[in-house]
Formats: sequence, C-alpha cells, structure tokens
Amino acid sequence: MIGAYQAQCQARVDAALEPLFQAPSVELTRLYQAMRYSVMNGGKRVRPLLAYAACEALGAKAEQANGAACAVELIHAYSLVHDDLPAMDDDDLRRGQPTTHKAFDEACAILAGDGLQSLAFDALLDPRLSAQSDATRLAMVRVLARAAGSAGMVGGQAIDLGSVGLKLDQTALEFMHRHKTGALIEASVRLGALASERAGDAELKALQQYAQAIGLAFQVQDDILDVESDTATLGKRQGADIARDKPTYPALLGLDAAKAYALELRDQALEAVRPFDAAAEPLRALARYIVERRN
Ligand code: IPE
Ligand code: IPE
Ligand code: MG
Ligand code: MG
Ligand code: MG
Repeated sequence: MIGAYQAQCQARVDAALEPLFQAPSVELTRLYQAMRYSVMNGGKRVRPLLAYAACEALGAKAEQANGAACAVELIHAYSLVHDDLPAMDDDDLRRGQPTTHKAFDEACAILAGDGLQSLAFDALLDPRLSAQSDATRLAMVRVLARAAGSAGMVGGQAIDLGSVGLKLDQTALEFMHRHKTGALIEASVRLGALASERAGDAELKALQQYAQAIGLAFQVQDDILDVESDTATLGKRQGADIARDKPTYPALLGLDAAKAYALELRDQALEAVRPFDAAAEPLRALARYIVERRN
C-alpha cells in the first residue's frame, strides 16, 4: 500500500515544488540551480508524506497540505546540504549523486541551504500552494520555526557534532535524535494536521504521540541502515557513522536491541492513532514503513 501512496504523494509534492526554483533574475541562475539540485533529486519525501497523511487522517483533502509538504521538504533538503558539508559530516554522496558542495562549491552549497530555509517559510504562506486562514498560517509558521531552529533540528545537529567520539548514554542519545530528526518529523505531522483546519485538541495530542514515536524510530532506523545497508541502496555512504565515530543506537545498544527498539516505537505510534478511523491508514502504513525501509 505504501508504494502506491508514496508515488502519488511524491508526484504531488514534486509538482508543487518545481515552480519554486525559477530564478527571479539571470544573475541568480546558479544559486537557484544549486537549490533545485538539492531538492529535485529523488528523496523519499517521508516528511511531505507525513504531512499529507495527517491532513487526510482528519478528513481533509491531501492538497490542503501542499504548502506544509513543500515547507518540510525544503527544510529537510537544506539540513542535508549543510549536514554533508566538510565542516559537518563531510560526505560526497547524497541521494545517489554528488553532494551539493561537490556538484557546485562550498560557498554555493551554504547559500543554497540558506535560500532553501527561507523558501520553506515562503511556501508555508503561499496561497497558490494551499488555502488556510491567517490564524492557521501563523500557527504553522511558529511550529516550523521552532522545529527547524536552535530548539529543534539545528540544536540536535549541534549536539551531534559536539558528541563525536563521545560515549553518550541512552538518555543523551535520545535527546539528540529527538532534536536533530524527531523535531522536523513531528512538525510534518502537526503541520499537516493544522493545514486540515479540522484538528481538535485530542486529535493533535494523539498525532503528537504518534509523531514523537516515529520521529525517534526514523533516526534509529537511519543508524541501523548505516551499519547494515550498502552505499548503492542508500544513495549515501554506508558506514559513515562508524568511520566518524558517531554516537548511534547500534553503537550503544548493539544491532539487535536497536532493531527491537525501532519496532517498539512503531507499536507506540500505532497505538497512538488507534482511535482514528480508516482515513488514518496511510499514517499507520508510514509507521510500518519507517522501520522496514531499506534506504
Ligand atoms: C536522512 O533523511 C537524514 C535524516 C534525518 C536521518 P531521509 O532518509 O529522509 O533522506 P531522503 O530525504 O530520503 O534523502
Ligand atoms: C542528519 O543525520 C540529520 C539532519 C540532517 C538534520 P545524519 O547525519 O545521520 O543523516 P545522514 O545519515 O547523513 O543522511
Ligand atoms: Mg549528521
Ligand atoms: Mg550525515
Ligand atoms: Mg545517518
């Protein structure tokens, strides 16, 4: 089920994203090329899928979440461009292609990331992408700003880079993962829910519990795949965490316990959305996919 749903959502978000990379003037062609290169390159689009699925779970049309879906993918893509820079993880392969700083240059990659970050907020507010009231848009901007920034993803990345070579305990590792990856995944679900303009407090709370569980599970699975997948399947360098002595779940718990933990988190997520009806099936399928995926 996830395959067809994923393909449909990928096509929808890609169609919404593509026009955003038109350079407004000829001088900016290269910058916009680097931004487009960093986004329109076959990512799994898990965060847009989550935004669409949360919106649909509340009985609204997926298209209502187009602004949210573009915004979270733009933030994610920017985070990957910067994550791959020599000053951070220093990777040369991403989504099966040279990283942005390799295909262009470092300064261009930094600026492309910066541009993508601002474009995300623009997308959230763009009436051509989706229609929400001003009050809803304001709430959505705040959710994204907090999740992407220093109290969320950027904070998690700072902890990640400050922890190289250290032995984190499970509490510290979980704190890092919940920030660097969990925060944006949580925001994806919440933005999709807010975009529906149909979410009550009880539903938002249940969706938050769902999102917290899969947000952590996503990074646990990412750590597992770094150990047991291969570079061709991943589209990024396998073994990069081990090579850089990164604190990860397999490094801390061992591979089997890390896998068991990912499944436990999936079950927590499924339990959180048990009260929802059949419209939440895509959310359930995504929870399973996140811990079963091979790339
Ligand atoms: C990779 O994210 C980085 C993490 C936050 C773990 P994804 O696995 O979603 O990467 P793409 O978007 O499919 O390339
Ligand atoms: C990346 O974590 C998290 C963010 C980009 C915010 P990783 O460094 O583990 O991601 P990959 O493995 O390079 O995709
Ligand atoms: Mg990293
Ligand atoms: Mg990395
Ligand atoms: Mg990783």
